[in-house]
Amino acid sequence: SAERTLVLIKPDGVRRRLVSEILGRFERKGLGIDAMVLRRMDDRLADQHYAVHLAEPFYPGLRAFMTSGPLVALVLSGDGVVEMVRGMVGATDGRRAVPGTIRGDFATSGRENLVHAADSAETARREIALWFPGLD
Ligand code: CMP
Repeated sequence: SAERTLVLIKPDGVRRRLVSEILGRFERKGLGIDAMVLRRMDDRLADQHYAVHLAEPFYPGLRAFMTSGPLVALVLSGDGVVEMVRGMVGATDGRRAVPGTIRGDFATSGRENLVHAADSAETARREIALWFPGLD
């Protein structure tokens, strides 16, 4: 079966009405959508999803932002999808992200950067299990 990755269209993306723009880029690229849901992240899910960032000074602000409204969680599939999607999303800080990437085209913040994408196949498996338990 094809490789999978976990993507979040963050609350700023939903508020700014950029869901179809962002989703459309993944669709036009030719990636598969294996699962998708609009939901709110609560503190507990945030702490699990961002376990590696719990001790970072930016974590309290990140959690407040990520729980501030609904987000879209999706599982994308395709050969080499983890690295491909990271490339399409661009650098973390929207001010540094290259034009042509999602963050480079639409984000100007290091925190409110529109999209999260799993950074490795291993992380993707963990995050997919967290957001879509039971997805086969
Ligand atoms: P994401 O790819 O979801 O992974 C961790 C998130 O933390 C990142 O996107 C940003 O939203 C946020 N983040 C990372 N670094 C910083 C920072 N220095 N200041 C504020 N937020 C950050």
